[in-house]
Amino acid sequence: MVVLVVGGAGYIGSHACRALRHGGHDVIVYDNLCTGFESLVQGFELVKADVLDGAALGRVLPRVDAIMHFAAHAYVGESVANPRKYFRNNVEGGLSLLNAAADAGVKKIIFSSTCAVYGVPAKVPIDEDTPRQPVNPYGVSKLFFENALAAYDRAYGIRYASLRYFNAAGADESGEIGEMHDPETHLIPLALAAAAGTGPELQVFGTDYATPDGTCVRDYIHVNDLASAHVKALELLSEGNMSFAVNLGTGSGYSVQEVISSVEAVAGKRVSRKSAPRRAGDPPALVANPAKAEMLLGWKATRGLREIVETAWNFAQRKAAVAR
Ligand SMILES: NC(=O)c1ccc[n+]([C@@H]2O[C@H](COP(=O)([O-])OP(=O)(O)OC[C@H]3O[C@@H](n4cnc5c(N)ncnc54)[C@H](O)[C@@H]3O)[C@@H](O)[C@H]2O)c1
Repeated sequence: MVVLVVGGAGYIGSHACRALRHGGHDVIVYDNLCTGFESLVQGFELVKADVLDGAALGRVLPRVDAIMHFAAHAYVGESVANPRKYFRNNVEGGLSLLNAAADAGVKKIIFSSTCAVYGVPAKVPIDEDTPRQPVNPYGVSKLFFENALAAYDRAYGIRYASLRYFNAAGADESGEIGEMHDPETHLIPLALAAAAGTGPELQVFGTDYATPDGTCVRDYIHVNDLASAHVKALELLSEGNMSFAVNLGTGSGYSVQEVISSVEAVAGKRVSRKSAPRRAGDPPALVANPAKAEMLLGWKATRGLREIVETAWNFAQRKAAVAR
């Protein structure tokens, strides 16, 4: 299949591009490079354009069998301060893509959704029947697009997979591509930078949660496990002619303190850190129940926290060596 990977020059999208190629598919990357990097998609065809650009989409979509939609703004705090930016890109941009797909007759779309659509769930692990009640504009924008997909499915027969990622982390085993967010807000790269002395002291937001060690618990999923789930979802959309939404997580939660310990073990260095107040809207624990994805996709995350931290560390070391 020819797959248009929208937002493919970003962190998760670039790993998906490699997984698709490995699975025998042809890839066209579509990205405006607002947070993406050409260096992450070397060797792939890249269309540099915005999802809001209907004309550019109209030119490329006739060559395409399916779409993977990674393009979005994805900083929760920024979405609270500047919802307009988020609704413009994630909602209006998403609809622009969906309308262009409908016009071009592209009937398969895989969407990067998020556990943020669940807001602060009453119980963990979280299954797909948990009420979707996002607590910030980022989550609201993702829920909107999930609902738009359902409407376009009913009206125009566009089949979709909404993949609700938990915390994406780690890097490709080659060390060639990985996470390069700027600013970086994710725990593992921040902890690695604090250990390496290339970043500031790590702030631990909240140490008095009702969790075993008082710090927040999250479900970290390796980016290549996410990427392989996308390929499986594409295959199911093609064979099954059915739409679906699934959680993508490991089912195991790790606390901030446990992540720090793992980073220290891998890096062989102390993570300099300080306690900071809780952040508003941060639930104590977010852990996926991945049973539906396992059953439907025949997929299971195969890498654990150790592999996540090791691959992220290798990528960070390699990046630092190139910069020197
Ligand atoms: N990283 C996570 O832990 C996580 C968790 C849940 C969901 N997600 C979702 O996964 C997706 C990818 O996340 P990521 O961490 O790889 O982010 P990223 O910022 O690295 O990638 C997003 C890509 O989309 C591109 N893009 C953004 N707006 C665009 C536009 N208007 N037109 C064209 N291209 C545009 C960016 O240039 C970038 O290459 C996002 O939709 C995000 O909401 C991420």
